[in-house]
Amino acid sequence: MEKRSLALKGAMANVNGSRLNGKAAIVTGGASGIGQAIAETFAANGASVHILDISADRSAEAAGRITRAGGKACSYECDVTRQKQVEAVLRQVFQRERIDILVNNAGVAHIGKLENTSEHDFDNVFRVNVKGFYNCMFAVVEHMKKQGGGVILNMASVAA
Ligand SMILES: NC(=O)c1ccc[n+]([C@@H]2O[C@H](COP(=O)([O-])OP(=O)(O)OC[C@H]3O[C@@H](n4cnc5c(N)ncnc54)[C@H](O)[C@@H]3O)[C@@H](O)[C@H]2O)c1
Repeated sequence: MEKRSLALKGAMANVNGSRLNGKAAIVTGGASGIGQAIAETFAANGASVHILDISADRSAEAAGRITRAGGKACSYECDVTRQKQVEAVLRQVFQRERIDILVNNAGVAHIGKLENTSEHDFDNVFRVNVKGFYNCMFAVVEHMKKQGGGVILNMASVAA
């Protein structure tokens, strides 16, 4: 059976002989939380990681942490709800290298009941968690088809 290691701490211990060597991944919302953990784990397992986040400062920090630990990472400021911006940022990414994996992770949570969910709350969750995913898949799908394949992972939440 294949041995896998996905330790999040002391991350770069797994770089050699890992199954993501030579692969490149985009992680949206990779500046914090689950996205950051995914970016670090992918990098620890040999992938080159492109972190897209609405926060330029936090995505640069997240990429810096990976590169200081010996991994490969770049950061981009990108609001996934804005289709033109997503396309422009992904064009930059594709100029750098071929992308094998898209992790649609950027999301917002609204915890509450119908009666305390305003139209603004509803629209915001929909724009980020649904349209944002569509924007990134739309921008990446031709690139992946041309190269013969790829993997798209969409995060979801019952809270959204
Ligand atoms: N935390 C949970 O318990 C949980 C459970 C199930 C699913 N999820 C899903 O996992 C994903 C990550 O959740 P998390 O808890 O790590 O959230 P988080 O708030 O810690 O991280 C979300 C990241 O997305 C970024 N972001 C938000 N709006 C953006 C936009 N418009 N464009 C680009 N980046 C944007 C934020 O800046 C942040 O870095 C979400 O899609 C969420 O719905 C979370």
